[in-house]
Amino acid sequence: MHYAKILGSGSYLPAKRVSNDDLAQFVDTSDEWIQSRTGIQFRHFAAENELTSDLAVIAAQRALEAANLTGDDIDLIIVATATPDMQFPSTATIVQQKLGISGCAAFDVQAVCAGFMYALTTANAYIKSGMAKTVLVIGAETFSHILDWQDRTTCVLFGDGAGAVVLGASDEAGIIHSKLQADGSYLDLLKVPAHIAGGQICGNPYVEMDGPGVFKFAVKTLAKVAEDVLAEAGYEAKQVDWLVPHQANKRIIDSTVKHLGLSMDKVIVTVQDHGNTSAASIPLALDVGIRSGNIQRGQTLLLEGIGGGFAWGAVLVKY
Ligand code: ACO
Repeated sequence: MHYAKILGSGSYLPAKRVSNDDLAQFVDTSDEWIQSRTGIQFRHFAAENELTSDLAVIAAQRALEAANLTGDDIDLIIVATATPDMQFPSTATIVQQKLGISGCAAFDVQAVCAGFMYALTTANAYIKSGMAKTVLVIGAETFSHILDWQDRTTCVLFGDGAGAVVLGASDEAGIIHSKLQADGSYLDLLKVPAHIAGGQICGNPYVEMDGPGVFKFAVKTLAKVAEDVLAEAGYEAKQVDWLVPHQANKRIIDSTVKHLGLSMDKVIVTVQDHGNTSAASIPLALDVGIRSGNIQRGQTLLLEGIGGGFAWGAVLVKY
């Protein structure tokens, strides 16, 4: 068994779909401003009592069904999230319990919008080392719970959702190469600074972001990591059938696409319908690409994402 292969994918969006005009009812913004700066038209928001694990479980069930497997086949669950249900235990163990399985390993990874790149790479390492055979890898977020509706520079950008893949050991090609990087000196560009101490929430529990700073860093870094992962794997951009980028902002996606010399018809774009769903954005886009019939078995996919930390990464996959 030489590869970790994507056996199935699934995703879930909460029922409440919110347009830019809906947001403009209670935020000082406009459809024109949001669309021209970001490409976002809609996002979905979880209900007040709907937690990240609830979204994750539905995406996971759909991925298991697509892989023709059940929860009992899974020997590791990894959940990438920056909006866990609780301080502890991990959302992954809550997902495990809600899926009605027990005994397999389960843990969260936290790399914000790069979380799915970190989770997928970790799952690949488990499979390649023989420590796991079948891994459920989920990206799930409820960012609407940590948005400050008084801060129009951040609250219009994010949405909620979940995406999942089942990764299995296979002799057929799967994950070809991946690269993860981080630089903690960029902490102040994007953060939720709060922590719990003495029974109190200390610090701001909402997203804080230097938008233009994030934009500049993301454009530069995503182009470089995409190029690096291709070069290290001995691939050229023209061999990529589909780019599945983190869906933060259409202008950031356009810039990466231009840098790689790809055409837009080779890019899965969902930001207009989902907004930025952080760790869920790449697996959500991947599942949309697969279920729409655009992404076909045997094709080469380049996944890439960046998030607070900063943390970033790219994964080259034979689907
Ligand atoms: N509606 C209307 N006006 C707004 C809004 C809003 N929602 N937000 C800001 N403005 C105003 C500002 O107040 C400012 O007005 P002023 O000139 O009178 O002061 C004006 O718009 C321009 O503000 P800028 O911040 O300079 O706008 P910019 O063109 O840089 O776009 C944006 C802001 C969209 C946030 C951009 O910087 C960006 O996309 N950054 C990347 C952020 C991102 O994608 N973060 C996601 C998380 S990280 C990741 O996933 C990679």
